[in-house]
Amino acid sequence: MGRTQVVTGTGAQSSRLVFIGEAPGRDEDLQGEPFVGRAGMVLNSALASAGVTRDDVYITNLVKCRPPDNRKPRKDEVSACSMHLESEFSHLRPSVVCLLGQSVAKGILDEDRSMAELAGTERTVTLWGHDVRAFISYHPAACLYTRENVDKFDETIRICVEAAGLSRR
Ligand code: URA
Repeated sequence: MGRTQVVTGTGAQSSRLVFIGEAPGRDEDLQGEPFVGRAGMVLNSALASAGVTRDDVYITNLVKCRPPDNRKPRKDEVSACSMHLESEFSHLRPSVVCLLGQSVAKGILDEDRSMAELAGTERTVTLWGHDVRAFISYHPAACLYTRENVDKFDETIRICVEAAGLSRR
């Protein structure tokens, strides 16, 4: 299997705003927490611009174990981890969900369109029995490679924070 440990969600257990990434990377696998590497710094910075910190929200991943060789999670791995997301949802009862990147949009909403089309879009959906406002954003790692994505990413995170009623300013 190759992973060091299972990486479960982190953050405010009372948060109505949930961020869902793809899968733990190397740093997350070693530290046991989602989004603690370079992509996590991009997410932290967007949250700070929106007036909150990662402790105010809940951050988790579609799959809880790092896939070998950093490959994308397979469909069977997403299905196998679905019960974990279901239990996170039943505990948190989120009202706003931010899907970070294309494979998360595909895995959860079965959305196949390009991120250029999907980034910043919103739909109301029922996920594991909970009606949520689901926003799609670029994956924070996509901001590391393409700086032009940063403004759109920051804006989508700010809209999610506002939609969840968490903005302080
Ligand atoms: N990328 C993800 O999708 N999730 C993490 O936790 C880290 C990087």
